[in-house]
Amino acid sequence: MSKAATANAPQSYTLVDNTTGKKIELPVLDGTQGPQVLDIRKLYNDTGAFTFDPGFTSTASCESAITYIDGDQGILQHRGYNIEDLAVQSDFMEVSYLLLNGELPSVEQKKTFVNAITRHTMVHEQIQFLFRGFRRDAHPMAVLCGVVGALSAFYHDSLDIQDPQQRMISAHRLIAKIPTIAAMAYKYSIGQPFVYPKNDLKYAENFLHMCFAVPCEEYAVNPVTARALDRIFILHADHEQNASTSTVRLAGSSGANPFACIAAGIASLWGPAHGGANEAVIKMLQEIGDKKRIPEFIKRAKDKNDGFRLMGFGHRVYKNYDPRATVMRQTCHEVLNELGIKDEPLLDMAMELERIALEDDYFVERKLYPNVDFYSGIILRAMGFPTALFTVLFALARTVCWFAQWKEMIEDPNQRIGRPRQLYVGAKPRAYTPLHKR
Ligand code: SDX
Repeated sequence: MSKAATANAPQSYTLVDNTTGKKIELPVLDGTQGPQVLDIRKLYNDTGAFTFDPGFTSTASCESAITYIDGDQGILQHRGYNIEDLAVQSDFMEVSYLLLNGELPSVEQKKTFVNAITRHTMVHEQIQFLFRGFRRDAHPMAVLCGVVGALSAFYHDSLDIQDPQQRMISAHRLIAKIPTIAAMAYKYSIGQPFVYPKNDLKYAENFLHMCFAVPCEEYAVNPVTARALDRIFILHADHEQNASTSTVRLAGSSGANPFACIAAGIASLWGPAHGGANEAVIKMLQEIGDKKRIPEFIKRAKDKNDGFRLMGFGHRVYKNYDPRATVMRQTCHEVLNELGIKDEPLLDMAMELERIALEDDYFVERKLYPNVDFYSGIILRAMGFPTALFTVLFALARTVCWFAQWKEMIEDPNQRIGRPRQLYVGAKPRAYTPLHKR
């Protein structure tokens, strides 16, 4: 990390104890772009006080070179490339290589990488028996979390996280197998037989085939759907230090294996405030039911006494349009047109809801815009996926980044176990009262 490089930027801040007048210098560090950071690593040692930032709104937890977000400008870049360029000109395998290795692959590198992923798409035959332990109506995220965590019980030959070769094999296994496991979770939930991956299909095509093919007839992958799904995977691939990625990093900081860490990431992503929002958006649009009821729900979203929030709206970082939402909305129109879906009431409802919300002072003042989850569910529904599978698809796409971020942390020579402190507000010391005296 460079010291404050830009001339007019602060080189340091001084903290003054207003009681004793003692001064503490806080160095400022610069990244290649984005906000500076105050280096407070010596703060507790020098002051005996912690910083306090429960939601990490002002806290950089790590150094990273993978993704850059400018929330005010609505910019999202992976290794310096704008998401809009990657979504339209690249494909998910190429973006996965970029996230993992830092550079776009050459023709040869891409061929080798895709070949490696393709040849790891099958899962151990025993894994199919894990599914039988779940109820058929289990939420697919519960199944995904359980089965991905169980992978560490199958791949003992790639659990030495200090061995770069084993880290690479684990990366290939996770990226390759997560679609297979996700498709198995879907098939299990509808009582259909599991469908094996096919090596002659591309990544998104293979996933569609494993989800929607049945043994009784040939399944032809719709190229439009496959291309749109590949783009949706790109849009969900990484997003800096969000809740699930931070979960993976914290779990990994103890030296836990990548399968266990990514299962932890899946658990965190499931929440409706995070990746679970795509499922919640569809449920919300269905609950609204009619454009005439939109004002009623906008009113509820603004009412502090009502726990209802406009799902798919707002973001901790973006105070402008989420660039992914813009591409997603455009893809939504393309897919519905290509699939000949002329009248999708949920899309009409979503667009009207967006229009009304963005004219309302409450949303404008708080800079609440549609995020990546607002339109994604409408496309996935048009592709034939059930609502309960939407967050599974988010986790599928996010797996490559969870691994890339975990790998970046493990390869950081300064990496230490993450161990936050607290502001203690509990009971003061007191003597024990024996039971007969209570
Ligand atoms: C993802 O971090 C990431 O990068 C996540 C993600 C990724 O790729 O990993 O981008 C994916 O998780 C997208 C977000 C999906 N979640 C939703 O769509 C759920 C609905 N949105 C929110 O609950 C909320 O906006 C969050 C959780 C996304 C952000 O919450 P913050 O940053 O903690 O903001 P906040 O709750 O403090 O809200 C600030 C104000 C509050 O009002 P005031 O107290 O100032 O009066 O805005 C209001 C909130 O009440 N507000 C909303 C709202 N979101 C915020 N009011 C109504 N509807 C909403 N959706």
